[in-house]
Amino acid sequence: MKKKMMKLISVFLLALLLAAILCSCQVREESRTQELEVRDESNFTFAVCGDPHGNYQIFGKIVEAAKQLQFLVVVGDLTKSGSEMEYRKLHDFLEGSGVSYYLIRGDNDREKDPQGINFIKYFGPLYRSFNYQNSHFLLLDNSDGFNGFSDEELRWIEDDLGENSSRHIFAFAHIPPGAPPGLGVPYNMWEKARISGERALEILQRFQVELMFCGHIHGYEEYQAESPRILVTGGAGATLHLPEQIGGYYHYLKAHVKGEVVEVEVVRI
Ligand SMILES: [Fe+2]
Repeated sequence: MKKKMMKLISVFLLALLLAAILCSCQVREESRTQELEVRDESNFTFAVCGDPHGNYQIFGKIVEAAKQLQFLVVVGDLTKSGSEMEYRKLHDFLEGSGVSYYLIRGDNDREKDPQGINFIKYFGPLYRSFNYQNSHFLLLDNSDGFNGFSDEELRWIEDDLGENSSRHIFAFAHIPPGAPPGLGVPYNMWEKARISGERALEILQRFQVELMFCGHIHGYEEYQAESPRILVTGGAGATLHLPEQIGGYYHYLKAHVKGEVVEVEVVRI
């Protein structure tokens, strides 16, 4: 009798184990399917441009084109001096256009607004992030060309990326890390910015940020090939810095995200 009881208990336990294994396989399969579905569904295009400097003739064409896309990111030097009047004009223009947009500020925008009070009033926090489909977007502020990223911002970047689970990560900052605040500024005056730029790049590399978009240099160029790849797009209206043959033309970028694949297209104006 005791033997029979033991046998029954063994059979019951075995059945229980089998059910648990089957159930966990199903959950794994379901989550894998969900993952694949999310990857497959991700298909969108966003635009990036930089340095309009209040030139609405060129910038207006970019905004018009970006209305057909998911959203536009402008990587700083939105205005000539950051005055409230310039910010109000920009805000009214963008709101009236119907485009979805995200902005960061550049060194020019600091001239009359070093603390970013006007920027915050019209466009929100100086740095932040958001998710769209399978991608994470990091909007950064290194507009102080002499000091670069603050320690507080670097800590925030690390925390923010630590929580990210999106497939792609894109970063945006006005000044390409390692670039000077302006032409002719002595090398020893922006050492802090260089060091903070190196620290930022180390974090972006560690969290496998694929692409970083910057402005500041007025034209288009691939500034760094990888880890992360850095593209400069400063051709949205400011006086061009580069000869035409090497990127000195008005333009914006279209970034196409199709599941795992990201392709960037340069569109000349
Ligand atoms: Fe600029």
